[in-house]
Amino acid sequence: MVKKLLSVLTGKAAAIPPIWLMRQAGRYLPEYRALRANAKDFVQFCLTPELAVEVTLQPVRRFDLDAAILFADILLVPHALRQKVWFAEGEGPRLEPVRDMAGLAKLAYRPELLAPVMQTIKGVRAALPDRAALIGFAGAPWTVASYMIEGAGGSDHEILRTLAWTEGKFFAALMDLLVEATSAYLIAQADAGAEALQLFESWAGTVPAGLFARAVLEPTARIVATVKAAHPKIPIIGFPRGAGGWLTRYAEATGVDGIGVDQMTDITAVKVPGKVALQGNLDPILLLKGGAVMRDEASKLVTAMAGRPFIFNLGHGVMQPTPPEQVAELVRAVRSGA
Ligand code: CP3
Repeated sequence: MVKKLLSVLTGKAAAIPPIWLMRQAGRYLPEYRALRANAKDFVQFCLTPELAVEVTLQPVRRFDLDAAILFADILLVPHALRQKVWFAEGEGPRLEPVRDMAGLAKLAYRPELLAPVMQTIKGVRAALPDRAALIGFAGAPWTVASYMIEGAGGSDHEILRTLAWTEGKFFAALMDLLVEATSAYLIAQADAGAEALQLFESWAGTVPAGLFARAVLEPTARIVATVKAAHPKIPIIGFPRGAGGWLTRYAEATGVDGIGVDQMTDITAVKVPGKVALQGNLDPILLLKGGAVMRDEASKLVTAMAGRPFIFNLGHGVMQPTPPEQVAELVRAVRSGA
């Protein structure tokens, strides 16, 4: 039996769409918080296979989802490039910023630092229920660069945008480094047993139009081509959040098999080549709220996407205060034909 998620990613519509949720593992689950409480350092938590296997499996066991997503973080790539990365309690990620060629020259990708991630993938595959596919992932170059250059999350990325416009050589060198490291990392994940891959371009929404090709389309296309040269069959989902107006060009230019759509975009109106699957895009706030409004919107989405290759997901990650019972309720609603 081909797993439903993988079948949809070959361009086939499913009568009932497969469902998984971005950030399905994490702090909204009490069983996650219990394990996390014993681990001080988040990077080391991600790099401890026994713990990472367990937290990857937690939501799949609880909700019988159609996919597990590897428990890791997009900032493991800067970590493996030997940039200093840490997670300040209650403040999100922090990095020692890299803003010039001298800073860049100090970075070099050390794949052995991410070997524990490959152990996690093997451990998850050995324990995964039959219906669930294992999704590996990485951050896409612009998004990872935003953390590497700004030194933290959020903001309008004023430093990144300034450097991208005015220090073209530096920006291109950083994109090259990230394309190379990210491709190697994703190939290693596929070698270890990841069955699909997602590229999180969570900050596509801050890319100026005049830089979109250089910052998003070309680096993503190069990663997709490099990974597919090593693993021709592995499906790749791109999630350019906040780039609704670019989705058709993104699909055509990058060669991805699926596109993650955020909740700001009308997913029913997205035009992509026929085999490209769409994934999304229930507003995470509806999962937080639950009840009839969540079920009604989920039902409308399933109905509107019927007949197309479609993966049910949120438009962004599960919010931390979400009651877990509502995830179960959402899965029931989607599977009941909604
Ligand atoms: O369930 C899953 O989705 C798998 C694991 C996963 C994590 N991060 C675990 C995590 C995935 C796929 C990510 C991706 C990620 N990480 C993204 C792209 C997706 C998105 O949300 O747009 C980004 C931008 C990051 C960077 C990052 N990591 C931030 C901004 C934060 C802090 C946010 C917060 O809630 O504190 C993290 C930390 C992080 N990554 C946590 C988890 C479960 C919380 C850390 C903790 O337990 O203390």
